[in-house]
Amino acid sequence: MEATAIEKSEHISEAALRILQQNTREGESGRYTVPTDRLYPFQWNWDSCLAALGLAEFDEARAWEEIRTLFAHQWKNGMVPHIVFHQDSDSYFPGPDIWGTAKMKTPTSGISQPPVAATCVRFLYEKCADQQQARAEIRALIPKIFAWHSWYLTARDPEKTGLAATFHPWETGRDNSAEWEDALFRVPTDGLEPYTRRDTDLIDAAQRPPQKEYDHYLALVQLFREKKYNDKKLWKKTPFKIADIGINSILLRANRDLLWLMQIVSAHEHEDTVKEWIARQTDAFDKLWCAQRKFYCSYDLVAEKRIPMLSSGSFLPLFAHAVPQDRLPQLLDQLDKLGRKKGAFLVPSLAPAEASFDRLRYWRGPVWAVVNFMIAKGLESYGDDKRAARIAADTAKLIESNGFYEYFDPLDGTGLGGNAFTWTAAMWLHWARYYA
Ligand code: GLC
Repeated sequence: MEATAIEKSEHISEAALRILQQNTREGESGRYTVPTDRLYPFQWNWDSCLAALGLAEFDEARAWEEIRTLFAHQWKNGMVPHIVFHQDSDSYFPGPDIWGTAKMKTPTSGISQPPVAATCVRFLYEKCADQQQARAEIRALIPKIFAWHSWYLTARDPEKTGLAATFHPWETGRDNSAEWEDALFRVPTDGLEPYTRRDTDLIDAAQRPPQKEYDHYLALVQLFREKKYNDKKLWKKTPFKIADIGINSILLRANRDLLWLMQIVSAHEHEDTVKEWIARQTDAFDKLWCAQRKFYCSYDLVAEKRIPMLSSGSFLPLFAHAVPQDRLPQLLDQLDKLGRKKGAFLVPSLAPAEASFDRLRYWRGPVWAVVNFMIAKGLESYGDDKRAARIAADTAKLIESNGFYEYFDPLDGTGLGGNAFTWTAAMWLHWARYYA
């Protein structure tokens, strides 16, 4: 007998739940999820925050624990690292020895990732039945989140321009986006120590970053290590300094949500500072608008020019609620054009019309469920439920027909990269399943 749509959807939800359970590990500071076994065998920053939304669907306490575990490894300067190396693993490179950060019981990488924690914490609060626990967790997290945002808005914006810089493509979370190419190739690779990649042992090389890029990624890590992760020195020295449209959008949204959280639990101490950040950041978004092509994009702070490429990041200012009314129709028009092609899935990480588009390669075209979620939430904040639902339905269809892949071919939906992926499962449980 044919399964009904509801039965099918329940079956997928059970599979999602199993993935979150199977990807759970025990660290010295608490439990956490790995993004997927072997390919990413540690805790990743924004993966964990978004994973918590999926965990909360069946175990609220476990969801809070996921966030707590991440923040237990926050640096003294406020930075929350992009990877926490809870356990040794030989299936991933570069490991703790390459990062060479200060000796800690549990080592970490030395860069951050998109600061989506405040927003995820707000979403958790809005969904959780146990409001007492939620409030206690929020109270404990506020100073930590504040310190992290503070780091982004001082160490990474010492001139107070309202745009936070990123020092590494891996920090953007959209690691291999074509936007980073010109700046990345400025990074000298002479003196680069020999190394062996591990990712291409596990995944088809056509779906991963090319070797040339990898050398430059590693040269940057070597520079950070040599400068002992000193923000001031790196600000002066690094040839890679970008105002990423993704990080800046997510940070602005996160500041709005941090302010909201502060008000919910009456933690007023730093409210005025957060309000100042929001105002400064909102003004700065002007610089990220490409008037010629009519979309938002990243900005190269060394070359002092915009990087005019239409990527999924171009729509994240919606998530930040930073799009003025006169630009909104122009930006939505870009989205509609991407969605018009028959059989195409929204939102490609790079627009098919861009020269570097590659339907298979990581961040050069494929669709990510988490980015879709943020864009859809942004659309909802403008009251555009129709476009938000289209993106959610596309995400649901990708997962239903192909499984819990890391990313998907935007032209035919094929699942790519790692499978049994934590944040894809979390996005199904928290969001996409309601649109299946
Ligand atoms: C890749 C992605 C990054 C993610 C990580 C773990 O490096 O580019 O955004 O955090 O995988 O899933």
